[in-house]
Amino acid sequence: MSYPYELKPLSYAYDALEPFISKTTMELHHDKHLNTYVTNLNFALQDDESLQSKNLEDILSDLENISSPNAVAIRNNGGGVFNHNHYFEALAPQNSTKPSEFILQALTASFGSYDAFVETFTKAALGQFGSGWAWLVGNSAGKLSVVSTPNQDTPLKDNLTPILNIDVWEHAYYVDYQNRRPDYVTNYFNIINWNIVEQRLRDYYAKLTCLFCN
Ligand SMILES: [Fe+2]
Repeated sequence: MSYPYELKPLSYAYDALEPFISKTTMELHHDKHLNTYVTNLNFALQDDESLQSKNLEDILSDLENISSPNAVAIRNNGGGVFNHNHYFEALAPQNSTKPSEFILQALTASFGSYDAFVETFTKAALGQFGSGWAWLVGNSAGKLSVVSTPNQDTPLKDNLTPILNIDVWEHAYYVDYQNRRPDYVTNYFNIINWNIVEQRLRDYYAKLTCLFCN
């Protein structure tokens, strides 16, 4: 992804995640919330040719060195674009995918078991105070872990590779669950696109291998 950013369409219908996430939520979340981040990010970058030429992950990995007067807007809206695309891309209709043996082995190696991963991820999603995200990430040593970030911050600035993320801003679930974030998080595990998770894991491991190649 790079400037000018565009609203990336969903790869499934707006009602494909029902009954866990409604068509109304998806329409608002994707077409309104994400679209606003895209618009605001383009606006914040419109006079900065050096940042326009960088891809979004590189910008978000190196926030401390942004000298633009729009640095805060770039951080917030750039994170909004990256985080939402990452989240929407890894959702799928119930029962359309399942964790492969490869995924289960990776999660077991880092967390002890799939269930322990679910418990850790859920705890992070529920423990994030206010708006933010919970993430499954990989570090530079090949270890998977779970972290949370406030607002639209990303783990990229901490040199972590995002594998999976859940949006715990109220706009992600309030229409369907009101204040019941735990129900939203529990149901989220029914609509994860495990094929995308596997692809991200394989890309992450390939990148690690490459680091050790030289
Ligand atoms: Fe969101």
